[in-house]
Amino acid sequence: MEVINRYITIKNHIDGAPQDSDFELRSSYLSLSLDPASGEVIVKNLYVSIDPYQLNRMKSYSSSHQSSEFAVAITPGEDIDAYGVGKVVASGNPKFDKGDIVAGLLKWGEFTVVKPGGMLNKLDPMGFPLSYHVGILGFSGLTAYAGFFEICKPKKGEKVFVSAALGSVGNLVGQFAKVLGCYVVGCAGSKEKVALLKEKLGFDDAFNYREEPDLESTLRRYFPEGIDIYFDNVGGDMQEAAVSNMNINGRIAVCGVISEYTDREKRAAPSMIDVIYKRIKIQGFLAGDYLNLFGDFLSTTCDHLRSGKIQPLEDISDGVESIPSALINLFRGQNIGKKIVRIAEE
Ligand SMILES: NC(=O)c1ccc[n+]([C@@H]2O[C@H](COP(=O)([O-])OP(=O)(O)OC[C@H]3O[C@@H](n4cnc5c(N)ncnc54)[C@H](OP(=O)(O)O)[C@@H]3O)[C@@H](O)[C@H]2O)c1
Repeated sequence: MEVINRYITIKNHIDGAPQDSDFELRSSYLSLSLDPASGEVIVKNLYVSIDPYQLNRMKSYSSSHQSSEFAVAITPGEDIDAYGVGKVVASGNPKFDKGDIVAGLLKWGEFTVVKPGGMLNKLDPMGFPLSYHVGILGFSGLTAYAGFFEICKPKKGEKVFVSAALGSVGNLVGQFAKVLGCYVVGCAGSKEKVALLKEKLGFDDAFNYREEPDLESTLRRYFPEGIDIYFDNVGGDMQEAAVSNMNINGRIAVCGVISEYTDREKRAAPSMIDVIYKRIKIQGFLAGDYLNLFGDFLSTTCDHLRSGKIQPLEDISDGVESIPSALINLFRGQNIGKKIVRIAEE
């Protein structure tokens, strides 16, 4: 049997903010019959993850291209890999059977041919919707968990600041911090997001950074006793302002610097005098380095979800053709929570 597989590619490298015209929906025929000894698996993609780091892969040059196998450059015209959940429709690999639900590195398309050795695991949904396994119970969740607990080493009562706080990673960091008993303030780019942070997610306070002309004094207002932990998703001016407001022995987890992804010239230049005299630890990290924590992360997060201590926040669009706008909108602040594209019904 043969199907038409529609998938997204980039037409050219993207060195600024992504636009619709940078992307193309292509299609090709795909045979669903596999040689039983091929080791390959064909997956019908159900949900795929939309993440800011994909833009760095689309640039003509980024030092990130050499840093990790997940960050390698994307060549225009090629299909694009991304984390996702799907269903096996053909298997030449004894570990998988037709009908298995799987999670792993799929494609921004309708089907994925997973080569032997490709990242693919059987998925037990544990009673949760499959989309959760792309976001809150997937890599975004692991990023928040590993970054907050391993890098920031939080203690009850500490004062935590989170940027891009209503995004996929940020909202979870704030919720984990609240469960631990920290004082948590988040920032986001609209009034509606600020209201959601306070009213729906239980942040102690939140502000719209777009309305604040002087971020250093804004943070002083929200943290009169200083910041113990800054979970940085944005870099740029916000990182500089946070460093100025850190307490002695403060910790900063640099998870991402999204405000710098679309602008080559933009760089945070935090005061190194502050870093030294306040003994601030600033550490970047990649979630992929913390797969050893996946079991702990999953059981903790599932417990919190079941007990209602944390809430899932998903933003789902439909259809492979919606992938470009889903990515573009991350850089315009138009997502609320984890951005996912549902490619097909379960
Ligand atoms: N280290 C890792 O392993 C790892 C893993 C996953 C993600 N990350 C990083 O973590 C960060 C958050 O990722 P995510 O997946 O959770 O995305 P996300 O926060 O769900 O979506 C991106 C958000 O960033 C904000 N934003 C966009 N442009 C901005 C700008 N110029 N200045 C300030 N804020 C801006 C927008 O919210 P506003 O309304 O607040 O503007 C937008 O909704 C990204 O930097 C990403 O690269 C790192």
